Amino acid sequence: MIKYLGSKKALLGPILRAIGAAAGEGAVVADLFSGSARVAHAVKAAGWQVLANDELRFAQVLARGVVQADAEAWGARARRLLADFADLPPAPGWFTETYAGQARYLHPANAARIEAVREAIRRLEAEPELEAVLLAALLQAADRVDSSPGHQMAFLRALAPRALKPLALRLPDLLPRPASGPCLALGEDAVALAAAIECDVAYLDPPYDQHAYLANYHLWETLVRWDRPEVYGRACKRTDCRTRRSPFNRRAAIGPAFATLVAALRAPTLVVSFGAEGFLGRAELERMLAGRGYLHVLEVPHRRYAGTRLGIHNGRGEKVGRPGPAATVERLYVASDRLLDLPADQPWCRVP
Ligand SMILES: C[S@@+](CC[C@H](N)C(=O)[O-])C[C@H]1O[C@@H](n2cnc3c(N)ncnc32)[C@H](O)[C@@H]1O
Repeated sequence: MIKYLGSKKALLGPILRAIGAAAGEGAVVADLFSGSARVAHAVKAAGWQVLANDELRFAQVLARGVVQADAEAWGARARRLLADFADLPPAPGWFTETYAGQARYLHPANAARIEAVREAIRRLEAEPELEAVLLAALLQAADRVDSSPGHQMAFLRALAPRALKPLALRLPDLLPRPASGPCLALGEDAVALAAAIECDVAYLDPPYDQHAYLANYHLWETLVRWDRPEVYGRACKRTDCRTRRSPFNRRAAIGPAFATLVAALRAPTLVVSFGAEGFLGRAELERMLAGRGYLHVLEVPHRRYAGTRLGIHNGRGEKVGRPGPAATVERLYVASDRLLDLPADQPWCRVP
């Protein structure tokens, strides 16, 4: 999986156990803010049918490639194609000039290979699921050799040691189709989508502060859209970073957006991840979720993402801010129409 701010890698255990307390065999679990697809992938691995959604195109493609696409359908073909791509000659063009010349997120040799593979995927005009598996493999490979502090608001002044390694394509970790049915990846605004779906458990992990995901991962959005956008600034961000904004990144808009989402969801159980330092505090979230029935909260001490621990970087990749504290608290809220048997070895707090 790719490096991703707010990725729930370290919280997968508590999240899966909370979902497990509510989701019986054959349950449908919706992950409405799927991001790196790490949680949706783990939910599929646990055997549930998953609906994954994220408004960014690269995140939807990741979810389609590693959650919707089943191993038995695409594994063998994707593996053969990825092996063929390994022999492609480098094809430096606009992408290499922009992201390994003007900006330096990648070593030029890797950027030129990424460009060759991306063009080959475009020319293939493959079925959407196969194309998504190939794009997910390319995104994951590019992420392993990038030279960023974990986001793309800036690149590192000197190329990171991992950026000197050659790009290596690997088949993503594809999973078999769950017995209960196929998984699905969507690219919608979660608030608009909420009223249109029905599921047993909805997992909600929205952004909770001003850090916009499109600006933080603009390079991946461009790699997937392959639309040669106009870019600006030293970081070479897509100009639509200025206009495509989520209400979850705005202090004044996040409350109404979250309340609308919670009210619209047709799901007996909601599992919500929210950082203690987000725009919405615990009391506010408890108020919004209380109407859904029995409410429990778990506080999980959480090591901060490496980018935050390293400090803030300016557009030239220089450190300009002091690193934040090494740890923070992530809260899990479980609201259900019935009293759930949550794991007794975790300090779940019943509200009120
Ligand atoms: C905290 S991240 C999710 C991280 C994910 N759980 C993981 O483990 O990688 C929040 C995600 O919400 C997405 N997002 C923001 N606003 C959205 C909206 N209105 N509808 C759908 N997705 C949205 C962002 O693109 C981002 O990927």
